[in-house]
Amino acid sequence: MSSTHFGFKTVDESEKAKHVRGVFDSVASKYDVMNDLMSMGLHRVWKAYTVQVANLKEGDQVLDIAGGTGDLAMAFAKKVGATGRVVHTDINEAMLCTGRDRLVDQGLALPTLVCDAEKLPFPDGHFNVVSVAFGLRNMTHKDVALKEMCRVLKPGGKLLVLEFSKIAPPLAKAYDWYSFEILPRLGNLVAADAASYRYLAESIRMHPDQQTLKALMQDSGFAHVDIHNLSLGVVALHVAIRC
Ligand SMILES: C[S@@+](CC[C@H](N)C(=O)[O-])C[C@H]1O[C@@H](n2cnc3c(N)ncnc32)[C@H](O)[C@@H]1O
Repeated sequence: MSSTHFGFKTVDESEKAKHVRGVFDSVASKYDVMNDLMSMGLHRVWKAYTVQVANLKEGDQVLDIAGGTGDLAMAFAKKVGATGRVVHTDINEAMLCTGRDRLVDQGLALPTLVCDAEKLPFPDGHFNVVSVAFGLRNMTHKDVALKEMCRVLKPGGKLLVLEFSKIAPPLAKAYDWYSFEILPRLGNLVAADAASYRYLAESIRMHPDQQTLKALMQDSGFAHVDIHNLSLGVVALHVAIRC
């Protein structure tokens, strides 16, 4: 049996998805308010930037993986128009249902599907753009998921991976203090769940840095990968093209 990490803990590979599900089942109802509080609204800027880089056209076919409460899917849907399609997916039903309700409140009825990024139920070469925001970090086999993303993209299609990354060294101490002292307390106060927000801080530290993720994406079939550091590397947007 192989092991992997769940935050700083070592767990059996076959158990990680269950632990991740527990986190998102627990935080789903408070996810959006916590995102605004934790990032002081910055996650909206990072996502708006991602939407700009996506450069969608009317009629585009888009897949949002680990779409959760639907921020990117909502913004993408406004760009692709009536002739395009945005498929909103996540492995977690609680997150996806919260997102679907938000989308419906905005007058958007998108195809919504529970699915694992490691086994995408879509044909080869189908989408113009695939996105995954703050989701890759939680996946057990990132290489398998990236290969699946590559498979479902059309040749010339674009993958957008928005994820926490390695912050610039001068800020690392302050960021550690904020992540390990403040975040779990905020999680406890707002969502009555310190452990999930401790997992968040730990999982960020265990995630590959900018260059390591770029190499992983290249090994997964993407010939061209650009890195856009945002907020001094707190987050990075990796943009890859399927050749
Ligand atoms: C931090 S949330 C991000 C939600 C949304 N994309 C956003 O940016 O606000 C991470 C999401 O990844 C999903 N996730 C984790 N593992 C996954 C997998 N193997 N396949 C698909 N989604 C997954 C979780 O269920 C969760 O909804």
